[in-house]
Amino acid sequence: MSEADEPNVGLSSQSTDQNKNEDDEKLWGGRFQEPTDAFVERFTASVSFDQRLAQVDIDGSLAHVRMLAKVGVLTDAEKTIIEQGLEEIRTDIVANRFAWRIDREDVHMNIEARLIELVGDTGKKLHTGRSRNDQVATDIRLFVRRRIDDINSRLTALQLGLVQLAEQHAATIMPGYTHLQAAQPITFGHHLMAWVSMLQRDQERLIDLRKRVNRLPLGAAALAGTSYPLDRQFVAEQLGFESVIDNSLDAVSDRDFAIEFASFAALFMMHCSRMCEELILWMSAPFRFIDLPDRFCTGSSIMPQKKNPDVPELIRGKTGRVYGNLISLLTLMKSQPLAYNKDNQEDKEPLFDSLNTVRDVLFALTEMLPNIQVNQTNMLTQAKAGFSTATDLADYLVKKGLPFRDAHDRVGRIVSLAIQKNCELTDISLMDMQAICSIIAQDVFAVITVEGSVAARNIIGGTAPNQVRHQTQLHRKRLQKL
Ligand code: ARG
Repeated sequence: MSEADEPNVGLSSQSTDQNKNEDDEKLWGGRFQEPTDAFVERFTASVSFDQRLAQVDIDGSLAHVRMLAKVGVLTDAEKTIIEQGLEEIRTDIVANRFAWRIDREDVHMNIEARLIELVGDTGKKLHTGRSRNDQVATDIRLFVRRRIDDINSRLTALQLGLVQLAEQHAATIMPGYTHLQAAQPITFGHHLMAWVSMLQRDQERLIDLRKRVNRLPLGAAALAGTSYPLDRQFVAEQLGFESVIDNSLDAVSDRDFAIEFASFAALFMMHCSRMCEELILWMSAPFRFIDLPDRFCTGSSIMPQKKNPDVPELIRGKTGRVYGNLISLLTLMKSQPLAYNKDNQEDKEPLFDSLNTVRDVLFALTEMLPNIQVNQTNMLTQAKAGFSTATDLADYLVKKGLPFRDAHDRVGRIVSLAIQKNCELTDISLMDMQAICSIIAQDVFAVITVEGSVAARNIIGGTAPNQVRHQTQLHRKRLQKL
C-alpha cells in the first residue's frame, strides 16, 4: 500500500472555524432553522477517520457519474466537468493539501462540497440518484477489497518463507510436546509446516469472504432504490464488483462483510499469537532453540544483558485488540432495525484497526521468520531427553507380537530402570532390557534413536523428513498458483 493511497489521517490546520464562511450552508441545511450545535458537529463527524476512504470515494463517484451520463441523466459535458473536478480533488488529497473540514462532517460531504466550490452548479448534480448510505457502503467494500488483496499476497509470501525454512529443516530433530511436556521427537520442518497449514486455512477464509465483500450496494440510494433509470450493472463493472446487491434495504444496512473480515482477522491473530508464543519460549534460556536477529529485538534500560523478543510479544498482545474489534462490530450490528442507522458510522475505526494490524503483523512475520537462527544442537539434545522414544519401543514390541497394553507395561518398567540409573533408554544394555522383556533383540537400538523415531513416522501428515519434503512441495505448488 503506498502512503499516497491514504493521506495522513487528521484534520489539516486550515480546517478550523476561521475557515468557515458565514454563508457556508450544510449540504442538507434546507429544512433547518438553527445551526448545528458545536458539540453535535464534533460528535457526529467522522471525517477525522473516514478521510482514508477518499480515494475509493472518488472512484465510486466517477463510476456513478459516468453511469449517469450513459443513461442520459447527465450530459457528456456535465460528466466531463465533474470528472475533472474530482480528479483535481484527488490530486490535492494525495498531495496533502486538501482542507478537510469538520463542519462538512464526513469524507463524502467534504469531497462533494469541494467539488461544488471548484466546478459550480454542475457539481450539484453528482449526488443525483445516490445517498450517502449506499455511497459509504460502496466505499467500505472497495476499501476492504483492496486491502484484502494486499493481505492475501502478504499471506502467500509469509507461507512461502515458512515453506523454504521447512525444506531446510526437514530433517532437523526437535522435541515435540503435548501438555508442554516432551512427548515424541519431531522434525522442525514438520512443526513449521503446521504453521503453514494454519495460515492456509486463514487464507482460504480470506479468499472466500472476498466474494461477499465484492458486491455493489450503489443504486440502493437511501434505502428503497431510486426512480432514476440507473444502470447498476455498469457501475459494478466499472468498479470491479462481481455482482449487484439485490435488496436495497440490505445493501445500505448490513455490515456482515466487515464482520467476516474482523472474524478472519481474529482467527489469523490467534494463530500468530500461538506462533509468537513458541518463538518467545524457544528464545528463552531453558530452551535456546532459536535466536531472533538483533534488529527484531530490543534491550532493557536496566539489565544490560537483556535481549527481548518485543516483536513477537507485541503481536501476541495485539491479538487482544483484534478480538475486541470483532466484538465491537458484532455488537454494533446487533438489534439494528433496517435500514441504515447512524450506528453504522462506528464500523470504521474497529475495521480499519484490524486491517492495519493484520497488515503490520504480516509484514513483521514475513521479515522475521525466515531470518531466525536455529540451534540444531540444543534442539537435538532436548529431543533425546525425557525418554521421548518410549512409544517407539512399545511399537517395536507390538510388531514382535506383544499386545499393546503389555508392551506399554514392559516399556514403563524399562523407563523406570533408566530413571533409577539416571540414563537414557539408549544407554540401557540389551541384557537389562531382555531381563524385563525377553523378545527384545539387538535391532531395538535402531528403533529407539530419535532419528529412527522420526523416520518411522512415514505416513501422510507424519513427521518423517520424507513426508515433510513431500508436504513442502505440495504447498509450494499451491502457493505458486495463488
Ligand atoms: N458518515 C456516514 C457513515 O459513515 C455516512 C452515511 C451517513 N448517512 C446518513 N444518513 N447520515 O455511516
